[in-house]
Amino acid sequence: MSALVAQNVAIGVTGGIAAYKTCTLVRELKKLGADVRVAISESTREFVTDLTFATLSENPVVTSLFSGNETSGTTHIEMARWCNIFVVCPATAHFLARAAVGMANDFITTTLLATRAKVLICPAMNSVMWEKQVVQENIKKLQQLGYEIVEPEWGALATSDEGEGWGRLPEIQNIVSRIQHCLLATDDFKGQKVIVSAGPTREAIDPVRFLTNYSTGKMGFALAEVARQRGAEVVLITGPNHLDKPNGVKYLEIESAAELQAVITNEYDDCDILLMTAAVSDYRPRVVLKHKLKKKAGEFQLQMVRNADILAELGKKKTAEVHVGFALETESGIANATKKLSAKNLDFIVLNNPLEPGAAFAGDTNVVTIISKDGLVDTLPKMSKKEVAHTVLDRVLHVLEAGSQPLAAG
Ligand SMILES: Cc1cc2nc3c(=O)[nH]c(=O)nc-3n(C[C@H](O)[C@H](O)[C@H](O)COP(=O)(O)O)c2cc1C
Repeated sequence: MSALVAQNVAIGVTGGIAAYKTCTLVRELKKLGADVRVAISESTREFVTDLTFATLSENPVVTSLFSGNETSGTTHIEMARWCNIFVVCPATAHFLARAAVGMANDFITTTLLATRAKVLICPAMNSVMWEKQVVQENIKKLQQLGYEIVEPEWGALATSDEGEGWGRLPEIQNIVSRIQHCLLATDDFKGQKVIVSAGPTREAIDPVRFLTNYSTGKMGFALAEVARQRGAEVVLITGPNHLDKPNGVKYLEIESAAELQAVITNEYDDCDILLMTAAVSDYRPRVVLKHKLKKKAGEFQLQMVRNADILAELGKKKTAEVHVGFALETESGIANATKKLSAKNLDFIVLNNPLEPGAAFAGDTNVVTIISKDGLVDTLPKMSKKEVAHTVLDRVLHVLEAGSQPLAAG
């Protein structure tokens, strides 16, 4: 864990049941050497006392904009200027709504508006609340405003009758590492050209019909966005999709596998890291009809020919430092993915099975197993696609670091 010495972390705690977990967050940040100051909302006092946070942070806790226990009349401005990062954890639905419209009706929302520091928001709530359209719209708005969201995870919710669902605060270690990324490693891919392929391909049958698959591009878009946030120069080459185009990336659209191959080959020469998530069709119709195929009596057979294996072709000449493939398998996943790993000369492969709960094509989550060249098999818990993207990029860094180690003297 990277140290956070000389880093000033302000934490706003709003009134959710997960507020008790923020005590551990404060402790972990203190252990890493950060200076931590906490502000709590009026309702947070119903869950955890200010005394607990004051003891753990070793700093006075702000409980109100006007409570009089501040060190000066403008504590919100002072804290807003002091902090290198402002973390709201947990963030209630109530807070998200107020922050999304720019309200400044308590200490936390006022400080949020007054700060120029990086802001990390960690929502946590009951799954029905989290899935409400209005909450999701507020999240989208906050992201557009430049705030970073640590998305809640799937898991056991606070009360036993709720069972499992979305809305649970992520493990504190994940929040700590996101804070570290924001403070220390935002540019850990600076100077690297990353190519991400995403989405499905379409193979035309005639002018009005094509063959495709269920890929939506969400995993590739998440990788492109996270790589850009971490300082990379990103080229996103994508098949047809309905997603918002990520900011700050070179965005190239393709339809067929042949088009993808041409565009990728054109971009590849100065590429450092290749992340191939596109669901590329293995076959295409032998002939593309000039006119619409007319219905006739009886059976119809479509003759197909093989498309090039783009990743295997690039693997043969591999000049980029890291090649990562994504494998989608519905049976014998690890065995099949391991075969692909060596056949395509990859550094590691990310395996997922769309039949597993939480790993569906169009969803915002994924359940993946990372298999590396040295035979390590690491099955990760269900995560948002953004979290998977961070994890994949962390692995890429390991590969780069291992590659730059001098060889041991023989
Ligand atoms: C027992 C209890 C648990 C609650 N847990 C949550 C929660 O996990 N997430 C949430 O968004 N709201 C939760 N609420 C509702 C908030 O406390 C309420 O919306 C409050 O107005 C939030 O105020 P604040 O955002 O200023 O802290 C809970 C309420 C109660 C009574």
